[in-house]
Amino acid sequence: MADQKETGYTLPGRAESYWKATMPESKYPPLSGDIRVDVAILGGGIVGITSAFLLKEAGVQSVAVIEADRILTGVTGHTTAKITSQHHLIYDRLLSKFGRRQAQQYAESNQAAIEKIASIVNSRKIDCDFVRKPAYVYAGSEDSVGKIRNEVQAAQKLGLPASFEENLPLPFEIYGAVRFNHQAQFHPTKYLGALAREIHEDGCHIFENTRALKIEGENPISIKTDRGTVKAQKVIQATHFPIHDRPGLFFERLYQSRSYVLGVRIGEAFPEGMFINAEEPVRSLRAQRTEGEELVLVTGEGHRTGEGNHETDHYQNLEKWVRSIYSVNSIDYRWSTQDTISIDHVPYIGQLTSGSENSYLATGFRKWGMTTGTVAAMILTDMILGKSNSWEEVYDPSRFKLVESAKNILSQVAEASKAFVGDRILPVHKEASQIIPGEGEIVKIEGERVAAYRDREGMLHTLDPSCRHLGCIVSWNDAERTWDCPCHGSRYKATGEVIHSPAVSGLSEKKVEE
Ligand code: FES
Repeated sequence: MADQKETGYTLPGRAESYWKATMPESKYPPLSGDIRVDVAILGGGIVGITSAFLLKEAGVQSVAVIEADRILTGVTGHTTAKITSQHHLIYDRLLSKFGRRQAQQYAESNQAAIEKIASIVNSRKIDCDFVRKPAYVYAGSEDSVGKIRNEVQAAQKLGLPASFEENLPLPFEIYGAVRFNHQAQFHPTKYLGALAREIHEDGCHIFENTRALKIEGENPISIKTDRGTVKAQKVIQATHFPIHDRPGLFFERLYQSRSYVLGVRIGEAFPEGMFINAEEPVRSLRAQRTEGEELVLVTGEGHRTGEGNHETDHYQNLEKWVRSIYSVNSIDYRWSTQDTISIDHVPYIGQLTSGSENSYLATGFRKWGMTTGTVAAMILTDMILGKSNSWEEVYDPSRFKLVESAKNILSQVAEASKAFVGDRILPVHKEASQIIPGEGEIVKIEGERVAAYRDREGMLHTLDPSCRHLGCIVSWNDAERTWDCPCHGSRYKATGEVIHSPAVSGLSEKKVEE
């Protein structure tokens, strides 16, 4: 399903993630009317589904997962599905910025998450292609070797299964690598689909196509949705970004990053392991067993949302790279994803605000959400059950690392402000008449800044470009044909309907004459 772009480049493959394309068929009803539950969970990704599963397993009588779309179709459905405690290069940094105790919590919790997934797969006999593999971060240049060696030392100090490797079975030169042994990979929608089937019965629910609009009150907390109201004693926000944020809470402490994946069939045998380089631009490789030949997932080109090249350029760069190292038989899939990243690179998991006993959140997984999402579910389950958990401290959402965060918060505020204010005064590059069918652009019409999209029939749709969350200016994503907000990751269809929270409503129509 080739997709010819304005630049002449033809996007390869089918525009869908492999995990979504091969997701086991399942459908859950929307909420109908008002209900009351013990725990309500917003978001049907890995955190929401795993938390509901663990809470139900622990004996919580009524849990409801509320998902605006279909479950597992958001960030979880667009992952590379590596299950590893090796989160690029992080342990040397954690030791120096957080200290030994908290670095240890991070390491132990993520190793425990691998074993948790393995034990669920085993005990439930889930057919989800779970397989143990080593994970590697390799130095693609001599300059990175020092960082790799420091990471090996830091990881070993924390008891992780790390070692230094001189060589890897990759078709290009490397300068050393950190290997984590006995990590894993799986098919995430098969795994989580099986967990979901165990949730939706006996007083527990999954509600799809049900958008949370407002959260109010305490004891019980009331979640107003577009299908009715859910009252709950406890609420977990397992959405991409907390839907009710305000400056000072998470606004300045999280940012969005997009990255790109190609699903490729190659002529060579793919080596044993999951691989990522230490440098920019990121290049990550891992293979997935499929019905036919293995599918190699080639990932990278990460950039802050709303910045950088056209989205299509990123696919083109990945394609060029994989063709330079392997003989490519076909490119079958392409997809992109948007991850939330905290400014100190550690997720926020815990009470929404300190002292709020009934509201919890989990966000900021920095592209490593298969393990950190499982960690979040384990911690939040313990918190809700009133059990102590020895990993809470490092993930505490109210933490504030003064030296680093003060600097980072300032630059984050500057970036957010740029999207909020700066884009309103930047020159626009096109006239509405230059927008070809299927494309969108921010243009000026009658002196007004407009998000304009021309559909396949040639009709121009004009929208107010101010994001409905907190007002940043959206930008056009030419690969996905969506309007994306650079501030906290809200996404909208080309015609303005909201796809992705934290915004809960679509872009407003702006009536202008072309
Ligand atoms: Fe927050 Fe757009 S302003 S997602």
